[in-house]
Amino acid sequence: MAGRLEGKRTVITGAGMGMGRAAAIRFAEEGARVGLIDVNEEAANETASMVAGGGGEALVLPADVTKEEQIAGAVEQAAVEWGGLDVVVANAGIELAGEDDRADRLELSVWQRTIDVNLTGIFLTCKHGIRALLASGGGAVVCTASPTGLYGCAPGFDAYSTSKAGVYGLIRVMAADYAKEGIRVNGVIPGYTKTPMTKWVTPEEEQALISTIPLGRPGQPEEVAAVMAFLASDDAPYVTGAVWGTVAQIALHVGPRIVVPERWTWKDLTICGTWTFRFYDAPRILAQIASRKLPVERIVTSRIPVREVVSRGIEALGDPDSDQVKVLVAAGAGV
Ligand SMILES: NC(=O)c1ccc[n+]([C@@H]2O[C@H](COP(=O)([O-])OP(=O)(O)OC[C@H]3O[C@@H](n4cnc5c(N)ncnc54)[C@H](O)[C@@H]3O)[C@@H](O)[C@H]2O)c1
Repeated sequence: MAGRLEGKRTVITGAGMGMGRAAAIRFAEEGARVGLIDVNEEAANETASMVAGGGGEALVLPADVTKEEQIAGAVEQAAVEWGGLDVVVANAGIELAGEDDRADRLELSVWQRTIDVNLTGIFLTCKHGIRALLASGGGAVVCTASPTGLYGCAPGFDAYSTSKAGVYGLIRVMAADYAKEGIRVNGVIPGYTKTPMTKWVTPEEEQALISTIPLGRPGQPEEVAAVMAFLASDDAPYVTGAVWGTVAQIALHVGPRIVVPERWTWKDLTICGTWTFRFYDAPRILAQIASRKLPVERIVTSRIPVREVVSRGIEALGDPDSDQVKVLVAAGAGV
C-alpha cells in the first residue's frame, strides 16, 4: 500500500486531532506531503511530530477555516512551498454538544457558529483549495460530512445536522462543476467515531449507539482515514460526487435512527405524541424509555416478543403484521 499517494501535495483541515490527524498520518505513510491546517497550532504541531516520527513530511499551517484570509493564506503557503497542490481534505468541524438543540430552543449564536465552521469553513477550504488544484492541472477533494445530515438521526443537534446536510450539497455540485477540469470531489460520512469530538458521549449513550451498529463497535479515526486515502488516490480515478459511508451503521440507510437524548424530559415526549420506529431500533428505544421510567401509555410492537416488552414494565400490544414499533405516549401524565 505504501506509495499510493506518493508525491501528492495535500492540505488537511482539522489535522490537529481526531480524523484529520489520522488522515495526516495515513496520507504521509502512503507517500503524501501533508499541510496540517488547524486553528489549534499546538495540536497541529503534535501531529507534525507524529508524521515526522514515521518518516513523513508535514507543514504546520495554523488557520481558522472560518476566516477567509487565513485559510487562503494557509493553502497558498503549501502550494508555494511545494510548487502546487494535488489533494484537499476539508475535514475541520465542531459539534457544540450541550448547546446545540432542537429548533425552538436553539440559540442563533450556536446555529451561526456551527454553520460558520462546518459549512462555510468547508466552502472556504474548497474555494481556495480548488483554486490551487486548478492551477496545478487537477486533483482530488475529500470533504467530511456526517450521517446526521442525511437521516435526521441526531435529534437535538439541529445546527450540526443542517451544517452537514449542506456539505452533501456542496460535494455533489462541486463534483459536477469541476469534473471536466480533472478535479474529483467526494465525501466521507463517518458514523460514531472515537475522537476528541465525541468525548461527551456517556457510557450509557455509547451502548445505545453501539446497539445500532451491525459491527458492534464505534469506528476509529484510522478507519475513516483509510477511506479518505482511497478517495484521494489514483485508485479512485472514476469516483466523483460520491459520499462514502464509513459508518458500519447499515441501519441508517434504510430508515431513521433515533437517539433519545439524555436531556429530553417528559415534556419533550408528550410533544412527540406518537413515535414510529423501524423494528431494528426498537430494543434500544425500549431500553432507554424503561431505564428512565418514562410514563409510556402503551407500545404497539412487532418483531419483539411482547413478553420482553412487558418484562421492562411497559404495557405492550403485539402487532405481527407491522415492521414498525409505535410508542404511544400518555398525554397528561407527568414526572
Ligand atoms: N467523531 C464522530 O463521531 C464524527 C461523526 C461524523 C462526522 N464527524 C465529522 O468529522 C470531522 C472530524 O471530526 P473529529 O471527530 O475528528 O473532530 P475533533 O474534534 O476530534 O477534531 C477536529 C479538529 O478540527 C479543528 N478545528 C475546529 N474548528 C476549526 C476551525 N474553525 N478552523 C480550523 N480547525 C478547526 C480542531 O482544532 C480539531 O483539531 C468533523 O467535520 C466532524 O463533524 C465526526
